[in-house]
Amino acid sequence: MSSFENEINKRRTFAIISHPDAGKTTLTEKLLLYGGAINLAGSVKGKKTAKHAVSDWMEIEKQRGISVTSSVLQFKYDGYCINILDTPGHQDFSEDTYRTLMAADSAVMVIDASKGVENQTKKLFKVCLLRHIPIFTFINKMDRDARSPFDLLEDIESVLGINTCPMNWPIGSGKEFKGVYDRSKKEILAFTANNGQRTVESVTTRLDDSNVDEIIGKGFHQQLSDEIELLDGAGDDFDLEEVRNGRLTPVFFGSALTNFGVEPFLHEFLNMTTKPSARESDIGRIAPDSDFFSGFVFKIQANMNKAHRDRIAFMRICSGRFEKNMDVYHVQGDKKLKLSQPQQIMAQEREIIDEAFAGDIIGIFDPGIYSIGDTVCSPGEKFKFHGIPTFAPEHFALVRQKDTMKRKQFIKGISQIAQEGAIQIFQEPGAGMEEVIVGVVGTLQFDVLKYRLENEYGVDIIMQGLPYQFIRWIGNEEIDCKTLDLASDSKLIQDLKGNNLILFTSFWSINWAQEHNKDLILLEFGNNDE
Ligand code: G4P
Repeated sequence: MSSFENEINKRRTFAIISHPDAGKTTLTEKLLLYGGAINLAGSVKGKKTAKHAVSDWMEIEKQRGISVTSSVLQFKYDGYCINILDTPGHQDFSEDTYRTLMAADSAVMVIDASKGVENQTKKLFKVCLLRHIPIFTFINKMDRDARSPFDLLEDIESVLGINTCPMNWPIGSGKEFKGVYDRSKKEILAFTANNGQRTVESVTTRLDDSNVDEIIGKGFHQQLSDEIELLDGAGDDFDLEEVRNGRLTPVFFGSALTNFGVEPFLHEFLNMTTKPSARESDIGRIAPDSDFFSGFVFKIQANMNKAHRDRIAFMRICSGRFEKNMDVYHVQGDKKLKLSQPQQIMAQEREIIDEAFAGDIIGIFDPGIYSIGDTVCSPGEKFKFHGIPTFAPEHFALVRQKDTMKRKQFIKGISQIAQEGAIQIFQEPGAGMEEVIVGVVGTLQFDVLKYRLENEYGVDIIMQGLPYQFIRWIGNEEIDCKTLDLASDSKLIQDLKGNNLILFTSFWSINWAQEHNKDLILLEFGNNDE
């Protein structure tokens, strides 16, 4: 195998998804710790400590001590080169969180063992399903009192609609969390102590060994034997193909805080995931080991360096090798460019890199030319990767400038911020840009918008919340929207590209629209392919 192929084959690029507080940050820290990327757990982001979250670029993040944007962490472990795509963990996440999943080849879903599947996880999971990427489940916080593991599996299956296959099985929980049973090795890994930050002291034994009662206790021994018998008889069989197609999720139990079960999880996870996958484009699938470079922009981050008002475009490399200062072709802009200052974003540090490979994520300097979903490739190639869908905003507000003399700045500011993908803007058909409807996935984006318009564009705005909660794209190409029969609490709008959409205040009014307009096609995601 050439060293080029080897570089690609060892790459694993995944996102970690969870509801806030399930333990995503703690697990990420532990994974970095095993990879030697950090020396001490707790140094990545201590939400309540002086150190701020990974991406600290925007003032608003500093003020609130939260991470508004997502970033990327790279480390090496056991011969693999791992890219973790971090998604913001707070309640108010943005569309960026969804888009980040477009750049990942698989996802790790962290679930709190005392809570089961929570709302944010459901939303993120939907996006994973859309892409059919493999999803691995880590049921965390087993060192606290947990729900029954059978209940938790049932919860994942019924709420998320994916089959589960427990790879290990917990022995007790809370103070009585004794360890896990590895189902393929048929071994009990009993934890005895967490020796500081990294190593976990454990003993390995088997269900029929004579010392089991001594190690985990007679009661747990009996319970485990019964549960394993039940699982072996009734559960879904492990099927790697099903896992790789995103139809079956392998489930691991553990405790990120105490490290119990983290390293076995990482091992097995890496074994089951694949190298960077081929990506669909308008000329077919693009293989990662193609002899040309290609990638797409999945996120644009403004003002990382306030002094320069620069923007960074985050790009997922889909094929070939990237070199610093290489000439590339920006397909949507129809322009040749030189990619200077490529950056790798690792925690708070931004490092200039010399080379990167398919599967990696790089940050490139953006003088304001890129849009979300744009393709960049070697000169001589010309194709577009399938677009990143537009995700449905859930909160809406009417926005206009206070001072009508600032009209130009208002339009420029709001359009640029929308181009970065932080917000979506809509208008009533035929209306001008004096007043726009802004849609966001999390309400924090409203604060970010107001802050940025004031600070970067010198525009004060008036923002008035709207009662809508749902938005649907009209999928019918040929439709006269004026003829639609809609309930009075629904509103017909257009995006800047002229696509027709409808705002609804409730599920009830979506159903009403559907019943009164039998041919109407309502879509939950906007398609960005031209
Ligand atoms: P998030 O990124 O998903 O939002 O969760 P995060 O890792 O920040 O964890 C949320 C809280 O849960 C933290 O406590 C963290 O220490 C705790 N936690 C994470 N994993 C485990 C686990 O396996 N067992 C137990 N018992 N707790 C866990 P906190 O008090 O809210 O924050 P902090 O003061 O510890 O930072």
